[in-house]
Amino acid sequence: MNEIIEKIRSEFFEAIKNVKSAADLEPIRIKFLGRKGLVSTSFDRIAELPKEQRPLFGKALNELKRELENAYQNLQGDFKKQQAKQVQLDLTLPGRKPFAGRKHPLLKVADEIKQIFVSLGFTIEDGPEVETDFYNFEALNIPKTHPARDMQDTLYITEDILLRTHTSPVQIRVMQRQKPPIQMIAPGRVYRRDTPDASHSPFFHQVEGLVVDKGITFADLKGVIQAFAHRMFGPDIKVRFRPSFFPFTEPSAEYDFTCVFCQGQGCRVCKNTGWMEISGAGMVHPNVFKAAGVDPEKYTGYAFGMGIDRIAMIKYAIDDIRIFFENDVRFLNQF
Ligand code: DAH
Repeated sequence: MNEIIEKIRSEFFEAIKNVKSAADLEPIRIKFLGRKGLVSTSFDRIAELPKEQRPLFGKALNELKRELENAYQNLQGDFKKQQAKQVQLDLTLPGRKPFAGRKHPLLKVADEIKQIFVSLGFTIEDGPEVETDFYNFEALNIPKTHPARDMQDTLYITEDILLRTHTSPVQIRVMQRQKPPIQMIAPGRVYRRDTPDASHSPFFHQVEGLVVDKGITFADLKGVIQAFAHRMFGPDIKVRFRPSFFPFTEPSAEYDFTCVFCQGQGCRVCKNTGWMEISGAGMVHPNVFKAAGVDPEKYTGYAFGMGIDRIAMIKYAIDDIRIFFENDVRFLNQF
C-alpha cells in the first residue's frame, strides 16, 4: 500500500518540477487532486484491503492528499505573485505624470507684461495695497468731491486709510523716492467695493506706467502703448486714443486695441465696434508733480493704466472674471 502512496507522491513531485505557469499546473491538479484523480480513486481501493489495514491506509492517503494540496497551493500562489509582479513591471505602460503645480494665468500674463516693459527699459516698482487717502486720492489730484472716493467704490479701513482702488499711488511713491528720469511700471492688486459679476470683482489687478523726464511728450506715450500692443497681441493690432478725463493727467485719453477676436471687423465681444477698451493714459498733471515734489516747469511725463485681468481675459478668451479667483483646478490645469 505504501508503494501506491509513494508512487503517487513521486509522480506528482516529478510532474510539478517542470511546471512553468499556472496553466501548466491545472492538468496536474486534475490528474492528482481532481474528483476522479489518483488520490480520490485510491480511496476507493480501501475496500479491497483487509480490515485491519484500512485505517492506516486511509490515514496515509489523507496525509498524502494534504501534502499534495499544500504543494499545489504554494506553487499556485507563487505563480499569482509572479503574474502580479509582471503586471507592475509592464514597461509598455505609459508613464504616470507627477502632478505639477503651475503658474496662475494672471501671474503668467503679469510676467509677460513685465517682460515686455522691461525690454523697453522700464523698471518694476511696488507699493502697498493698504494706502492712505493722500497717495490714493489727494496727491493724484482727486478732489474730496470725486465720485471715486464714494463709500460705494472704495473700501475704507479708517477715514484716512483704505485699500488702494488703483495702482496710480505707486507713481507718487516712486517720484518721492527717486529723481527723474523715471521709467517704471507697477503691477499689483487693487480693490473696489463692487458686487461680483462676469466683469466685476471686488479685487483685480492693474499695471501702472509712469515715465518722467525732460521733454517727454504724448508721442512717446503712443509709441510705448503701440509697442506693447504689438508684442502682446501681434503686429496687426492697431491702437486708438480717445479724449477722456482723469484728474491726474492732462490731457487724458482712453486707449483701445483692435478686437483680437474679429481683427477689427466687429463681433459680439467688441459689441460690433471692432475695438476693445484697454484703459486710460495721459500726460502727468502739474498738480501731481507738485504733490510728489517734482518740478513741473522742468519735467514732463506720461502715465498709463492697464488691467491685467482684462488682458488675460482677452488673451485666453475668458468671458467671466470670477473664474480667475475660484481656483478650480480644472480651469487652472489648462494653462
Ligand atoms: N487709475 C486709473 C483707473 O484705475 C487708470 C489710469 C488712467 C491710470 C489714466 C493712469 C492714467 O496712469 O494716466 O481706472
